[in-house]
Amino acid sequence: MLSRSTTLKSLLVLVFSGFLVTLLARAHEMNHETHEYIPAQPGDSRSPCPALNTLANHGYLPRDGRSISPSQMSKALKEAYHLSSPLSTLLTYGGFFLLRAPPPPTSVPTPLTLTSALSFSTHLLKTLPSMGAVLRDLDLSDLALHNHIEHDASLVHDNTPLGKKFASTHINSTLLETFLGASATGTHISLNDIALARVYRESQTTTPPIDAFHAEVARGEVALVLGIFGAPSSDGAFGTASSEGVKIDWIKEWFGSERLPIGWAPTHLQTLRQTVASSSGLRAAMGDIAQAIAGAGSKEAKVEKPVLVVQDN
Ligand code: HEM
Repeated sequence: MLSRSTTLKSLLVLVFSGFLVTLLARAHEMNHETHEYIPAQPGDSRSPCPALNTLANHGYLPRDGRSISPSQMSKALKEAYHLSSPLSTLLTYGGFFLLRAPPPPTSVPTPLTLTSALSFSTHLLKTLPSMGAVLRDLDLSDLALHNHIEHDASLVHDNTPLGKKFASTHINSTLLETFLGASATGTHISLNDIALARVYRESQTTTPPIDAFHAEVARGEVALVLGIFGAPSSDGAFGTASSEGVKIDWIKEWFGSERLPIGWAPTHLQTLRQTVASSSGLRAAMGDIAQAIAGAGSKEAKVEKPVLVVQDN
């Protein structure tokens, strides 16, 4: 026969368990609720980065896009896009650094001697902000600071007019349509299609042309897209030239509405190594296009809207 105190204890355990289960279910529900898509409302802060805006639109980052810490950003990138820890850490802390440090130099001293190189490096080191200044929270719109991470020749954003400090965060729907037009199949955007689109945008950006550093940044951005959203190639690798690429509808939804594509879910861990490999693949494909243009001889060759056109003069 059970004593009164044992019965009371069992009852308390039962009530407590019930309370815990309800609490967990509620937390799960709330977590689910917080990731529904709600586009930016008036007054919300947004950036020129479709990846981060999407995270805010789904509540992985604060929906108002304000006061975001590096650890919050890194965690959100891992949670929503399944980036590996090294990749999300590098993107986040590298991003905060590039934003707060002076813009990367576009040229080195000439003539380049040991003395000039030393004084150049000392000058650069002196201009670096403190760790606290680099890592302070940001609002997404801070990222539009021109020529830090943000650059001209973007796929779906206008170039920044000369003399303006901040770039537009507005999506240019004509540029988006042009980008979608690069698809050779009409159903997917492959690595080669993206290379063509990048050559096209860079060919339109001449005053001044995009510098080598930002051209790499731009390739890195789309390498991430190919890796995260693209289909694997037959050998199971992500973001390679032999993959059919990303569904065109997903590109449209993600770039155009800054929304996680319906029907998409992370399939794999996106690593730094895969991203670097895709970026190198893009550089090679862009090089092939440049060579085709240079090798057209007496014919005129250019990338037009963005298709490689070769015609007799
Ligand atoms: C999953 C991770 C990420 C992906 C897939 C991604 C993707 C992209 C893409 C595709 C663009 C180009 C938009 C265009 O061409 O119009 C872009 C732009 C940009 N991203 Fe991200 N991004 C990621 C993470 C980050 C992080 C962590 C930061 C900074 C902390 C960042 C800052 C920017 C900025 C400032 C731009 C504007 C560059 C421009 O002028 O085109 N991104 N991103």
